[in-house]
Amino acid sequence: MADKKAIEFRNALGAFATGVTVITTLSDEGEPVGVTASSFNSVSLDPPLVLWSLAKNSLSKVAFCNSGHFAIHVLSSKQEDISNIFAKSGGDKFSGIAWKTGENESPILDEYAALFECKTMHQYEGGDHIILIGEVLNFDQRDELPLLFHGGQYAETRPKLNSEPVDAVDIDEGRFTEDFLLYLISRAHFQSSRPTHLKLEELNLSQREYMTLAVLSMNAPASENELAERLDHTGFSPDAELLDQMALRMLIDMSDDGYELTTKGRKYLMETLAVAKAAEDDLLDHFSHREVADTKRVLKKIIELTGADIPDLWNSTEENSEKN
Ligand SMILES: Cc1cc2nc3c(=O)[nH]c(=O)nc-3n(C[C@H](O)[C@H](O)[C@H](O)COP(=O)(O)O)c2cc1C
Repeated sequence: MADKKAIEFRNALGAFATGVTVITTLSDEGEPVGVTASSFNSVSLDPPLVLWSLAKNSLSKVAFCNSGHFAIHVLSSKQEDISNIFAKSGGDKFSGIAWKTGENESPILDEYAALFECKTMHQYEGGDHIILIGEVLNFDQRDELPLLFHGGQYAETRPKLNSEPVDAVDIDEGRFTEDFLLYLISRAHFQSSRPTHLKLEELNLSQREYMTLAVLSMNAPASENELAERLDHTGFSPDAELLDQMALRMLIDMSDDGYELTTKGRKYLMETLAVAKAAEDDLLDHFSHREVADTKRVLKKIIELTGADIPDLWNSTEENSEKN
């Protein structure tokens, strides 16, 4: 095929989105061998057969054609680095990767979204590739999002919305559904901050005291007015009485310039933040990088659209007044 036509052919094939697999076997010398492959597909349910194709110029060709077995690892969205390692030609691709020997001798990586251990059933000529058909002897699946390949680059799944946006609020009836975005934001907030609230109870800190400590950690010293201004929009701004109580409990200190955190106040805040961060880490484990980035973008935009007059927490009050 002429060069231009070949590129167009490749590009057209790239329009077909696939998953990404790493397929492993053993060499004649008993060394682990593996390649990244997106040509994997199902063939038959009974008997359970799968196929993939291997370039004839692949250094792993002899191993795959002779071993009589291979293991297909469907990669998760977190395994782009593994795909890149096995897409390199030659070299020791297994150093630094956790694996063990599987039931039919193929090397099995510790991490995958799905695994198919196969006995090689057929090999067919397919132009510059060899098509390998394997009978699946053993398989496994894990709760992981898959890594995708589309248009020459890695991608991630995003479930397609198959319905028109629904009316989430019925004003006349005074009812709302579970699709009401503001309800979802509030409920997600209340539920996801439960571990933090339990920690606050343990430390005998109220929400207002916690918010005051948090604001002081970012910008201190601050006067009572500055604290009130920064927290006014939350409904949890401190008054003189609360600040006095906090000073008595040695959570904050009053100097000529305003209020500051004490060592105890900072310690309580750090303990609470550690609980909040651990809760966030547990939650984010269930989402892809893309989903997290998209959610943050949407939330930041909502904050921007609804808070033009609200001071920026990370800048000093003077900078904020200059900005306004
Ligand atoms: C996303 C992706 C999909 C690939 N799919 C295949 C494939 O289906 N078959 C193949 O032979 N090579 C495929 N490759 C290329 C091989 O992984 C690459 O040629 C590798 O270097 C072969 O290693 P080896 O020469 O050590 O055997 C793919 C590479 C990438 C990045």
